[in-house]
Parts: sequence; C-alpha cells; structure tokens
Amino acid sequence: MSIISVKNVSKTYASGFTALKTIDLDIRKGEIFALLGPNGAGKTTLIGIICGLVNATTGTVTVGGHDNVKDYRAARAMIGLVPQELHTDAWESPWSTAAFSRGLFGKAKNPAHIEKVLKDLSLWDKRNSQIITLSGGMKRRVMIAKALAHEPPILFLDEPTAGVDVELRKSMWEVVRRLREVGVTIILTTHYIEEAEEMADRVGVINKGEIVLVEEKAKLMRKLGRKQLKLHLQDRLAVLPPALAAHHLELAADGKELIYTYDTRGERTGITGLLNDLGAAGVRFNDLNTTQSSLEDIFVSLVHQ
Ligand SMILES: Nc1ncnc2c1ncn2[C@@H]1O[C@H](COP(=O)(O)OP(=O)(O)OP(=O)(O)O)[C@@H](O)[C@H]1O
Ligand SMILES: [Mg+2]
Repeated sequence: MSIISVKNVSKTYASGFTALKTIDLDIRKGEIFALLGPNGAGKTTLIGIICGLVNATTGTVTVGGHDNVKDYRAARAMIGLVPQELHTDAWESPWSTAAFSRGLFGKAKNPAHIEKVLKDLSLWDKRNSQIITLSGGMKRRVMIAKALAHEPPILFLDEPTAGVDVELRKSMWEVVRRLREVGVTIILTTHYIEEAEEMADRVGVINKGEIVLVEEKAKLMRKLGRKQLKLHLQDRLAVLPPALAAHHLELAADGKELIYTYDTRGERTGITGLLNDLGAAGVRFNDLNTTQSSLEDIFVSLVHQ
C-alpha cells in the first residue's frame, strides 16, 4: 500500500530552469526508500514538493490520501522533515526546540514522547544545553528530534549523514532502523551508496530531474549484479589473442590481467568455454578471483549513461 503518491509532478523554477521533468513515484507504507542521485539531480526539490514547501509546476501529490495542496495541513502533519541545510535555533535547547515543534503541529504536550526521542538520539544529556554549544553531529540529531516531535508516520531525511563521522553515521542508521521497526516510513537521500546498500528496502535513482530507476534493493543487486572474473596471467600479453576475441575480454594491469564480465544468472556464464579457449591459446594464469559489482557500480553506470 502506498502512503505517498506522486503523479506527473514537474518543476520549472522561476529562473526557467526545469529541475524535475515528469515524476511518478509511490512510497510504500513502512519502507525505507533511498533516493540516490548526483548533486543537482532534483532530490531536494522533490522532497520540497512532497512536503508542500515548493509548488509543483504540474502534477499532484497525496500523503496518506490527503492532497498536499488542497489538504495541506493534514498532509503536512503526517510528515517529519529533516532538511539538508541545518538551521536550528542557536540559543534554544534540544528540549525546547523539540517541544515547540510539536506544538506547531497542534499536538498536545507530551513530555514522555520528547524524552523518548531525545534519549533515542543520545541527546538526553544535552537536553538543556544551548544548541550553539553542540557539535555538528549533535545538531543534526537535534534536527531529527525536532522532526519526530509530533510523532509523524513519515520521516524525510535529506542527506542525514553528510559530514557525519563513521561512528555517528552507524548510530544514525541504528536510529533509522528502530524507527522503521515501529512502523515509520522513511525516505532518505544520500550520496553514500553504502548507506542505501545498508538501509534501504527500495532504491530510486534520480538524474537530471528524471527518475531513472526504482527497484527493490535486493532485486536490483541481483538483476544488475554482475560478476567479474579476473585472471592474473603468468606472462604479460601485449594484445588479446584473436582466438579469444569472441569472449569480450578486457586486458588490464599492463597486460598482466584478463577481466571477464559475466552474469551470474545467465543460462551459461561462458566460463567453461573461456577457460578451454585460454588453454588452447596457450594463455596461462597463476591466480584468479571473482568480484561481484556493487550498488555503486550500478549507480555510476546509470548516471553516466
Ligand atoms: N530556488 C531555485 N531556483 C532556481 N533553481 C533552483 C532552485 N532550487 C534548486 N534549483 C535548481 O534545481 C536543480 C535541482 O536542485 P536540488 O536542490 O533539487 O538538487 P539535489 O538533487 O538535492 O542536489 P544535492 O545533492 O546537491 O543536494 C539544481 O540545478 C538547482 O540549481
Ligand atoms: Mg539536495
């Protein structure tokens, strides 16, 4: 079941620049959806439109069935947004900023909930410190606390871990996972492929204002997951022997390596034939290994097509 439905949405800014072409996207209830794309692809614009901060030029968005323009308040109340740019009230404390944000959504005070959120984000010790005295990573967590203060069933994280150290990044992944466990739908953008690989149920890739791919992560890794067989040659080869031309081999490492790319789910991998032909051509190797391509390779090949 989809909790967010984006239909035929495009965005041309006043400058005349078209940041989004035609976007159709459904977010399923309870999933972690990772939106990947290079700088300027349109990620923040798309999030801004869904959250009602940016007007779409065409199209419609519904959030939990509420049209996000005609029924803005109901749609927006379902969303917690952690924006890409940090802007916290420097002189406020994490506690007051979170409690205030809850009030903005017209929710009754609930100190127990604010306490839980601050504890989950390891901010409890700092609850009464002025935000200006916190580190960058802590400020980022304050933004998350603020976004969660009104108990939204949907959370947008626009590059939650940009500029965050490895340890803290892992702890934020933990926080996000725990939120998913209690049923929160999470949409995050990231430049860290590892983050999508680690966290996402589904991955969307956006490039130049167009969604070029939406796929289950596991399926994506299977579908596009190719393997490479690397043969470390005993003797350097200046050129590929013509007898091997049919195998789509690549000569690398100054002629000391042969790389063969194949599909693990293909009916035949071609490895047996390759090895036979190598033997017949007198090409000897002293080692071989295989590697599976990562989401990163997939991403790079999609974006550079
Ligand atoms: N207010 C604006 N007026 C004109 N153009 C804009 C405006 N906001 C964004 N853009 C342009 O729209 C395009 C998409 O920007 P957007 O911020 O959505 O990209 P992004 O995918 O979030 O990039 P990043 O990974 O760098 O955050 C960019 O070319 C940007 O310059
Ligand atoms: Mg952005």
